[in-house]
Amino acid sequence: MAERTLAILKPDCIRRNLAGKVLDNLLDAGFKIVALKMVKLTKETAGEFYAVHNERPFYNDLLVFMTETKVIPIILEKQNAVTELRKTIGATDPAEAEDGTIRKLYAENKQNNIIHASDSVENARIEISFFFSAKEIIENNTL
Ligand code: CMP
Repeated sequence: MAERTLAILKPDCIRRNLAGKVLDNLLDAGFKIVALKMVKLTKETAGEFYAVHNERPFYNDLLVFMTETKVIPIILEKQNAVTELRKTIGATDPAEAEDGTIRKLYAENKQNNIIHASDSVENARIEISFFFSAKEIIENNTL
């Protein structure tokens, strides 16, 4: 089975009606959508998801931002999905992102950077189970 990773379309992506364009970009880059849904994070769930950043100066603003609107977590599959997705989305700071990457195309700044991607295979596994139960992941689909 090809590797899996987790992406989240963030509130700036939803608010600016960019979800369709970003999904198109991911599909064009060869990712298969394994599962997708729309959820509203609470301060508690966002805080748990981003616990690794809880000492950072931007942590509180990040929680406010991530709870502004619903978000769209997506399980994506491809060979080397974790690395490939991080390449496709570009650097955290859009000013440093390579041309053609999702963040270069659409992100406004380091916080409002459109999309999250897991940073390792182990974190992808943890982040996928943070958002999706086994029942929500339809295996062996032929799409
Ligand atoms: P993400 O890939 O979701 O992981 C952590 C998030 O924190 C990051 O994307 C940004 O949205 C946010 N972030 C990271 N660094 C900064 C920063 N220096 N200032 C503001 N927000 C940041």
